[in-house]
Amino acid sequence: MVLRVLVIYYSPGGNTKRTAEALCRGLVRAEAEVTLVPLHRARGIALDDYDLVCLGCPAYHFAPPAPVRRALDRRIAEGNAMGRVVPNAPRCAGRTAVVFVTYAGPHTGIAEATPVGDVLAQTFRHLGYGVRGVWYTVGAFHENSNPRLNLYGRLGDIRGRPNAHDLGVIEANAYGLATVLRYEKAEREKRQGRHG
Ligand SMILES: Cc1cc2nc3c(=O)[nH]c(=O)nc-3n(C[C@H](O)[C@H](O)[C@H](O)COP(=O)(O)O)c2cc1C
Repeated sequence: MVLRVLVIYYSPGGNTKRTAEALCRGLVRAEAEVTLVPLHRARGIALDDYDLVCLGCPAYHFAPPAPVRRALDRRIAEGNAMGRVVPNAPRCAGRTAVVFVTYAGPHTGIAEATPVGDVLAQTFRHLGYGVRGVWYTVGAFHENSNPRLNLYGRLGDIRGRPNAHDLGVIEANAYGLATVLRYEKAEREKRQGRHG
């Protein structure tokens, strides 16, 4: 029995990619089979082929970046066409997601990232997924931004983030979750074996 995981990320500056890679390290440590893809290569991938789907992006103006928003809208439109977006959004067995967001929080801190996590999580919930994690990681602005934002924002000096500690937290979260999901999948398969 192997846990199959798809990790999709959008990361123009690399912070979210590094976060996604840390997440993958945790999953692999828990013996999951992991596929890591950037968003622009994720179009058309059948999410149903995976026990867990993870999607991450940065906060842009306290919202998901436009390409992410478009990809979410496309998945919802496809879900509608397949009759999967239904009243009460019943949770479908085996559909499990984690979403993760990187953000710098210069003005109001994590409140700039939570709307992004909410939109990502809501999209999965509309498609019948159980969302088992909404994870936030601090990610500094890149060189072409106003340097004061990385020094004097709501979160203080965030230069160099995500740092080893930030990435370690994500890795540990992923390891823990994958361990639980593997156990749940094994139990499900045992029950199915017993009943037919
Ligand atoms: C165009 C733009 C808009 C941003 N807007 C916000 C924002 O509203 N709130 C926030 O906390 N961080 C904001 N950030 C910071 C990014 O979310 C953060 O640096 C993130 O880690 C970048 O991820 P990446 O390196 O994967 O592209 C913004 C960055 C850019 C480039």
